[in-house]
Amino acid sequence: MREFIKWQVVAGLPAGEKGLRAYLLDEEREFFTAASGGEKIPLYREREIDKALFLVSGSGLDDGDYLLPLAQFKRLNLWEAVKCAALEAFQQARTLKINRLYLVMDGAGARGLHKKALEGILLGAYTFDRFKSGDEKKRETFMPEVVVVAGDAGSAGLEAELARIETVCRAVNHVRDLVNQPAGELGPEEFVDEAVRTATECGLKVDLWDENRLRREGWNGLLAVGGGSSRPPRMVSLTYEPEGAAGEVDHVVLVGKGITFDSGGLSLKPGAAMMDMKSDMAGAAAVLGAMEIIGRLGARVRVTGILALAENMPSGTAQRPGDVIVMKNGKSIEVKNTDAEGRLVLADALQLGASLKPSLMVDAATLTGACRVALGIQLAAVLGRDRELVKKLVKAGEESGEILWELPFEEAYLEDMKSDFADLANIGSTPYGGTITAALFLGEFVPEEIPWAHLDIAGPAYPGKKWKYFAPGATGFGARIFAGLVKNLA
Ligand code: BES
Ligand code: ZN
Ligand code: ZN
Repeated sequence: MREFIKWQVVAGLPAGEKGLRAYLLDEEREFFTAASGGEKIPLYREREIDKALFLVSGSGLDDGDYLLPLAQFKRLNLWEAVKCAALEAFQQARTLKINRLYLVMDGAGARGLHKKALEGILLGAYTFDRFKSGDEKKRETFMPEVVVVAGDAGSAGLEAELARIETVCRAVNHVRDLVNQPAGELGPEEFVDEAVRTATECGLKVDLWDENRLRREGWNGLLAVGGGSSRPPRMVSLTYEPEGAAGEVDHVVLVGKGITFDSGGLSLKPGAAMMDMKSDMAGAAAVLGAMEIIGRLGARVRVTGILALAENMPSGTAQRPGDVIVMKNGKSIEVKNTDAEGRLVLADALQLGASLKPSLMVDAATLTGACRVALGIQLAAVLGRDRELVKKLVKAGEESGEILWELPFEEAYLEDMKSDFADLANIGSTPYGGTITAALFLGEFVPEEIPWAHLDIAGPAYPGKKWKYFAPGATGFGARIFAGLVKNLA
């Protein structure tokens, strides 16, 4: 992986570059000429952010300087627009081999924007290029330094704030590395290795279930789904203990779907639908990413992340349509479609989570194609019984730019999940409302008294194209929501 981007904070522009500052303050023209092609770009003037300008500079600050506006990103909210504009400036600096990019943002409305700009750059500069060779890779290794100019508002606390955002972005990019990694390389065992390595680095406690322990303890959902693969299933839990916590603290449990490849199993997916299914562990990767952030930055509450890891493959040892699984809690499930596997592994992980008697529990999963149909790739769905928890998740998402849209947890649809031969079927009897029926299935494994919500991240976890400041591939969706949720708990 490529070296990370260097950045520094300066309170005002450094000596010898004062001219730039004066130049900016005097700048009252509505248009500025961009260095690239002499194209006119309007300055951004909105909400008192009179100096929300991104400056690209070489050695001096003469002809090569130019400003980039936020205006071209006006369809996004301000924070997202700042991320995109800062990245755009950074990419132009890279193309022009300019070694320093100044982020100059001044004025009352600029407070809090510096970290958004840096976030846009740190997330936006990521590409998964491990398998690229030759010229293309060489060209991409050049990285300008980022100079964050704090402006008159001062730089108190800014450096620490930016360091925190760097930690967050590193974790998110780590999630993206895992999700982008081909499934041939990353099976359940390799995912465990990665989780253990992360836990060691971040001071988290680890508990591990290999297939023998899974069998001994009756985690039959994971065993059934993983049974078709030569790479056996695993479950891992990672726990963060708050330092010096006196007495009882809240305990948050995060659960992630970790299907390292979803072929559909014997209910095999058609070729095109199988294409991106290395990303079917994005929920588990997001949970690992959140644990990494929490481990490095600390939290006031206890947090446990549970990863349910299996490869869903067709073979002579695979589960068959019509098989019945008796789950840990005694509920029997008729497997009507082996491609509805996520809910089977999550049922186990949620039961393990519930056994810890958490104060709240959330899960993330690339659970249904129906969610992509309903909400597209820009939004994830949130469903659950607990109004307050749903609100908290939506808020954390608004803060990080990961937008959640609530779908109804309509228990009337449980009727669709009936089976003639078992307590429950793993798919609905109609092709409609698939995201809701999947969430209801999960709800059958979470006692009602536990505040719980489910995120279906099938759209934005792996949008299948360049999106906002994300290069094609994984986005790390959910890690920042979970870390934000924990951070926001009083
Ligand atoms: N992993 C898929 C869901 C998915 C599809 C995620 C496309 C991202 C992109 C999940 O395991 C699945 O196959 N779900 C089935 C459920 C159906 C059989 C009830 C689906 O959505 O088709
Ligand atoms: Zn599936
Ligand atoms: Zn799946």
